[in-house]
Amino acid sequence: MCMPEKIKVGLVGIGNCFSGLLQGIEYYRKDSSQKVIGVIHDDLSGYGIYDIDFVCGFDVGENKIGKTINEAIYAYPNMVDWIPKDEMPKADAKVYESPALDGVGIWVENRVKPIKSNKTTEQLTEEIKQIIKDTGTEIIVSYLPVGSEKATQFWAQICLDTNTAFVNCIPSFIASGEEWGKKFAEKGIPIIGDDIKGQVGATIVHRTLIRLCNDRGTKIERTYQINVGGNTDFLNMKEQERLASKRISKTESVQSQLDERLDDDQIYVGPSDFIPFLGNTKLMFMRIEGRQWANIPFNMEVRLEVDDKANSAGIVIDALRLAKIALDRGIGGPLIPASAYLMKHPPKQMTDPQAKVACEEFVKGN
Ligand SMILES: NC(=O)c1ccc[n+]([C@@H]2O[C@H](COP(=O)([O-])OP(=O)(O)OC[C@H]3O[C@@H](n4cnc5c(N)ncnc54)[C@H](O)[C@@H]3O)[C@@H](O)[C@H]2O)c1
Repeated sequence: MCMPEKIKVGLVGIGNCFSGLLQGIEYYRKDSSQKVIGVIHDDLSGYGIYDIDFVCGFDVGENKIGKTINEAIYAYPNMVDWIPKDEMPKADAKVYESPALDGVGIWVENRVKPIKSNKTTEQLTEEIKQIIKDTGTEIIVSYLPVGSEKATQFWAQICLDTNTAFVNCIPSFIASGEEWGKKFAEKGIPIIGDDIKGQVGATIVHRTLIRLCNDRGTKIERTYQINVGGNTDFLNMKEQERLASKRISKTESVQSQLDERLDDDQIYVGPSDFIPFLGNTKLMFMRIEGRQWANIPFNMEVRLEVDDKANSAGIVIDALRLAKIALDRGIGGPLIPASAYLMKHPPKQMTDPQAKVACEEFVKGN
């Protein structure tokens, strides 16, 4: 049987999410007798979880640039420690400098410690294109901080210029943005986005319960979802100006599941605060209020506690393999089923069961 080729992936933003992704793969590799849990598909068109090869990384942290990826994932302020650093295999792939642009917010600046660069964005652009070429990178995946609008657009343009597929895990609207989506379609380059859904995260739980209440004929009157955590992602989101697109992404993801939209002042969905000692633990508090038969009121409350990084890694592994399938088949532009299934703010919203079926049909080649 012929082995599938490796999927060559370049990483932008070597933070906690990427650290969890890599340490998780190593966790399973160390004991391959155990069942892999945490991914939706073990196998996607012949691609398994070990078929992803991280060939280059890009960051702005002075303590990450120049290290190998496997070292950089342990550098401060990252805090994922599922595999001891000295048990992580050596790797050749390196972390290179990315232009900072608007990537580093005021709250995280003294933790990230961005490199004092003597290179212009134009110089870095040329260097990056060369690295993508030399490493044979096929897909770029972005785990930039929330609010990195310019940096995300920089990386989208790099993908367009180098014919590299793009998986955009953050709420900057590229796959779902009309102008950018069109550019990827015109060049025939696959893109999956925007804003990765968790495996069992706040958004998917909220969407599912809202849809349940909707489909069972209740009248939903108001709802909120509050999230708190203690990592740099949450610290960064203390800067309200960086949050606009995150709020839209999360709120629309819930609104899209209702036959009748709620008025803006009857729905609140958003990251709400930074509690340092929580680390990568994310707490979500959700409430739905509505009415049933004879206008009798009801309400429900959910408290979800998850490791935020374990929640996203498996979904990204599916996204990378779906992007690779599109590359193999010469399919370009925003991948609608994969985006609807895996992302909070896709070009087209579906219910989650519809998105699952559409995605599976895409994998079958229909
Ligand atoms: N469950 C989840 O964890 C989840 C779900 C959805 C979306 N996201 C999003 O994924 C993103 C990454 O989350 P994280 O916890 O890894 O964040 P993080 O703060 O740990 O990592 C961000 C990394 O980006 C780097 N960076 C900053 N500016 C850069 C630039 N211009 N170019 C390259 N690198 C730059 C930082 O140095 C840091 O290493 C966030 O936007 C987060 O909201 C995460």
